[in-house]
Amino acid sequence: FPIKKPVEMDWSFAGPFGTYDKGQLQRGLKVYKEVCAACHSMKLVPFRALEELGYNEAQVKAFAAEYEVQDGPNADGEMFTRPGIPSDHFPSPFPNDEAAAASNGGAVPPDFSLIAKARAVERGFPTFVFDIFTQYAESGPDYIHALLTGYDETPPEGMEIAEGTHYNPYFIAGKSLAMPKPINDDAVTYDDGSPQTVDQYSRDVSAFLMWAAEPHMEARKQTGFNVMVFLVLFAGLVYMTKRKIWAAVP
Ligand code: HEM
Repeated sequence: FPIKKPVEMDWSFAGPFGTYDKGQLQRGLKVYKEVCAACHSMKLVPFRALEELGYNEAQVKAFAAEYEVQDGPNADGEMFTRPGIPSDHFPSPFPNDEAAAASNGGAVPPDFSLIAKARAVERGFPTFVFDIFTQYAESGPDYIHALLTGYDETPPEGMEIAEGTHYNPYFIAGKSLAMPKPINDDAVTYDDGSPQTVDQYSRDVSAFLMWAAEPHMEARKQTGFNVMVFLVLFAGLVYMTKRKIWAAVP
């Protein structure tokens, strides 16, 4: 069965000088919280990291407090739940993997902390030649966007879809997956006037997941640029030094 190639999107964070669009990340966070978080955890990301999305400390505190987190044991050796605080991480909606699998037809919804990096798509010759240099870091978000927008296609005639799974031509590990179409038009309310469509939700949540997987991308790119400038200047100096040292030799 053919797996469709994700459409290459025009991400703000693409290229050597790409930066995250904070408005987009805030919308993506909203989509994650209101839709995806019902099944997907994000255990490596602490609430306090949300300050990087442009929220202040009070907003992050209020956001964290909306979650119930497991803590303990207390003095009596018991586990208990309490409202979240900024140093807590995005919790799993399920107590354990068995419970997660039981409510999702046997499949465990993967954790989202690194999903945008974990689903990089292999592109084959000749693009992989350039991918070495660009890292083609956007293939993960391209894939997530394609997966979320790929549910409406009908399976080709004669294709059998396993019971309890849903056809999606972009899914990389089979013809159908246990996740039903998670989001529809108007499912999440945006207050900045952005279109409330599956396409826009998918772009925003994919960008947000890219940020979650690589929060220091902007600093990394900036450092890389500074290093390149330094190396060019240094190469020039080394060349002039070499000319001076060897000037007397005919
Ligand atoms: C798998 C994204 C909401 C249940 C996945 C995968 C992604 C994803 C990227 C991995 C696919 C792969 O392995 O290549 C999202 C996003 C959501 C969302 C962005 C919100 C917009 C949900 C919800 C549920 C759910 C609400 C539960 C009703 C699952 C399950 C799998 C999965 C069970 C594993 C599928 C399998 O391996 O067969 N999701 N998801 N997801 N998701 Fe979601």
